[in-house]
Amino acid sequence: MRILIVGGGGREHAITWALARSPQRPELFIAPGNAGTQRLGTNVALAPTDNEGLLAFVQQEAIDLTIVGPEVPLVNGLVDVLEAEGHAVVGPSAAAARLEGSKAFSKAFMAKYHIPTASYRTFSAGEIAAARAYAEAQGAPIVIKASGLAAGKGAIVCATLAEAYAALHQIMEDRAFGAAGDEVVIEAFMEGEEASVFALTDGERYVLLPPAQDHKRIGEGDTGLNTGGMGAYAPAPVITGGLLTQVCREIIEPTLAGMMQEGCPYRGVLYVGLMMTSEGPKVVEYNCRFGDPEAQVLLPMIANDWVTVFDKLAHRQLQDVRLETAVGAAACVVMASGGYPESYQKGYAITGLDDASRIDDAVVFEAGTRQKGDQVVTSGGRVLAVSAWGDHLQEALDRAYAGVERISFKDATFRRDIGQKGLNR
Ligand code: GLY
Repeated sequence: MRILIVGGGGREHAITWALARSPQRPELFIAPGNAGTQRLGTNVALAPTDNEGLLAFVQQEAIDLTIVGPEVPLVNGLVDVLEAEGHAVVGPSAAAARLEGSKAFSKAFMAKYHIPTASYRTFSAGEIAAARAYAEAQGAPIVIKASGLAAGKGAIVCATLAEAYAALHQIMEDRAFGAAGDEVVIEAFMEGEEASVFALTDGERYVLLPPAQDHKRIGEGDTGLNTGGMGAYAPAPVITGGLLTQVCREIIEPTLAGMMQEGCPYRGVLYVGLMMTSEGPKVVEYNCRFGDPEAQVLLPMIANDWVTVFDKLAHRQLQDVRLETAVGAAACVVMASGGYPESYQKGYAITGLDDASRIDDAVVFEAGTRQKGDQVVTSGGRVLAVSAWGDHLQEALDRAYAGVERISFKDATFRRDIGQKGLNR
């Protein structure tokens, strides 16, 4: 089978790696990929946003299956373009990807289908006075969100009303997120521990992956600026079996039924970001794809042949899929460039990759890397993640950190407390 993976981050390296392990020996193409994916398949110099270029590639190269990793091409309608020409794709249509692409849409959707989430109101570009008045009436802490895609930076948690007014000004007047801030959602702050549930769905049926937990802040103890995610682990014990059943009944199933009723059935990977509040699980946000770095722990945990799983998903045959978990726990630790998530230098040589990959039950997933001659060099903020697995979380973490110790590049930074919340439970 000839498979195209769209994207170039750690998540796409993990997808490529999971497919490369298949006994079906698929031929893999990654657009654009990174230095890690290049060792498993063929990197293709096409941007994930180039719908026409990707369609032409799928047609010219007789690609059997396309898997779309990041949110931007999904929201841009890549799946619609490929499916219109009869190609098999894993990912939601643009209309379904609005669950991530428009917070105004997703909040109205949750209200309509009685899916538990924070109370909210939406304001459009010219309504800053009304938005300020609403924030004032609600009081702090409060959350201000740009409705559109903002590379993970569009949700601002405000401890005081002054911060809320500043966030509204930044989004609505300074246009810090451009058109993503054409609508603004103001929502109540939710207290609790965050975790994520991932469902693979063909629109009607779904199968669940183990619940996972990301580490969004750059600093240990969840301090400092938000990042794309500095590490993850699964299963996340904050979501017990009973709570997972509740998430399915109150959130996943009404979401799939609601999207069907809206005329845009949701197919692909549904990522539900949850807050485990004292009133039960509530939706923080939906995402229309695998999490990054959650994919780097979830894909290795599953014993199934991922070529078959993705193929069944694309062909809406999920009744044939029963996921088997291969290990007790998995964890990954992200190594980032010094200065990330603000400005950082690129082009530093990375050493120790092969050494780290020799650790049993561990793998290095590259993200911001580039091949320069015979060296792999840094080329992004999140440079790579060491993923590892074992019978239990401590074992997985020990292996992941052993890998991190073997890798170095100038100014490398990583968190030393990945998985701590899970260990503490
Ligand atoms: N782990 C955060 C994200 O993928 O958006």
